[in-house]
Amino acid sequence: MPQRQRYLFVCINQREDNHPKGSCTARGSEEVRVALKEQLAARGLAKLQARVCASSCLDQCSSGVCILVEPDHFFYGRVTAADVPEIVAGIASGQRVERLVLSADDLAAG
Ligand code: FES
Repeated sequence: MPQRQRYLFVCINQREDNHPKGSCTARGSEEVRVALKEQLAARGLAKLQARVCASSCLDQCSSGVCILVEPDHFFYGRVTAADVPEIVAGIASGQRVERLVLSADDLAAG
């Protein structure tokens, strides 16, 4: 398979229910991952433009659901399945969804 322009690493880390950090899976990351894969494929973007990869913890737990976008090297945070169409449209147009991009303060909080 060819190298994609972008790789979207979706955290699907899971912790026990009462863990203080929570987890992206508890916040719905599996639903986000599946929706991303389906919608990228439906728009014909999965073969060349973007590959969705399941990831372990990206250490941005307080901002989950978290997605690391490479090689652009930024994080989307607090992503829900409702955000996926906008993210996919951004992949198609080459523009990121600024309202979902984690800030320096978000990153410092982890
Ligand atoms: S649990 Fe998803 S970033 Fe840590």
